[in-house]
Amino acid sequence: MLRSVILAASRSSRVERLVETAPFTRDVVRRFVAGTATDDALRATQELVTNGLSVTLDHLGEDTVTAEQAVAVRDEYLSLLAALSAAELTPAAEVSLKLSAIGQKFDEKFAYDNARAICAAASEAGTTVTLDMEDHTTTDSTLEILAKLRADFPTTGAVLQAYLRRTESDCRELASAGSRVRLCKGAYKEPESVAYQAANDVDKSYVRCMNILMSGQGYPMLATHDPRLIAIAEDRARWFDRSPDTFEFQLLYGIRPEEQARLSADGYTVRVYVPYGDEWYGYLMRRLAERPANMAFFARALVSK
Ligand code: FDA
Repeated sequence: MLRSVILAASRSSRVERLVETAPFTRDVVRRFVAGTATDDALRATQELVTNGLSVTLDHLGEDTVTAEQAVAVRDEYLSLLAALSAAELTPAAEVSLKLSAIGQKFDEKFAYDNARAICAAASEAGTTVTLDMEDHTTTDSTLEILAKLRADFPTTGAVLQAYLRRTESDCRELASAGSRVRLCKGAYKEPESVAYQAANDVDKSYVRCMNILMSGQGYPMLATHDPRLIAIAEDRARWFDRSPDTFEFQLLYGIRPEEQARLSADGYTVRVYVPYGDEWYGYLMRRLAERPANMAFFARALVSK
């Protein structure tokens, strides 16, 4: 119930204005978002890489409605990639990209062209791109664009969401040699017709999907903070005889940093998803919807100000 209310609020511009101007907001944002400028993103990346972690950077923003906005997002990625390369932070850092931020909702061909330019710049910088997955109405389009991008940039990463009923089948399709696939639970509010609703069913689907990816030929990127799923992943790595360079764990910036360090110290590749930029509202609200403890953190920030 609380999750539905927060996810509904994540789409409300009135609530957005209220939250953005609230005095406690800055502290809450700082926990989950690296900052607003490219320099903030570079600083956070440098610190994580120095500590032995890999990074994927997300320039915040989604559901772009004009071509000018989409081009501005594309250009931000191009300059970010140039800056990462100049700072010698590639290949430790790659980028994550939402197709809706570069025009997918109004012109798929235009979004593809923008994504292609970003993949070319990533390749030039010695790194790669992962296409974030958004709500289920975009899944087919995103996977089609991914397939086209992979023809020229084979390391372009996919994201699959365990809460979608279709995902086991998508995992089978994508578990081929060289295929980088991030598996997450899924962050959007989806109808029962397409998505498991009970947390336990989502977890069971995650394990089935992980089995397919870990037993396949591709490069699984296991994105979760869930201790049970991380333990199962470690077990599957042993079971399927996967060395640490053949898969990775991924966690979000600011979430379970001790676990990030623990996994890294145990020899696993750990990639931290680092969001930055002005448009942090939708991202932050999805994080709050995921976990009551994040709400408590929010509330504590509110009363301490
Ligand atoms: P979940 O939120 O169900 O938590 C399970 C358990 O993990 C909790 O019970 C608790 O034990 C532990 N835990 C979680 N948060 C914690 C915290 N803050 N502190 C301590 N313990 C905590 N989604 C999407 O739809 N499209 C995408 O492209 C992506 N991309 C993506 C990249 C990366 C790197 C990550 C980690 C996640 C995504 N996601 C995503 C988000 C994802 O779908 C999902 O919403 C969140 O990861 C939350 O799910 P968890 O698997 O972490 O478990």
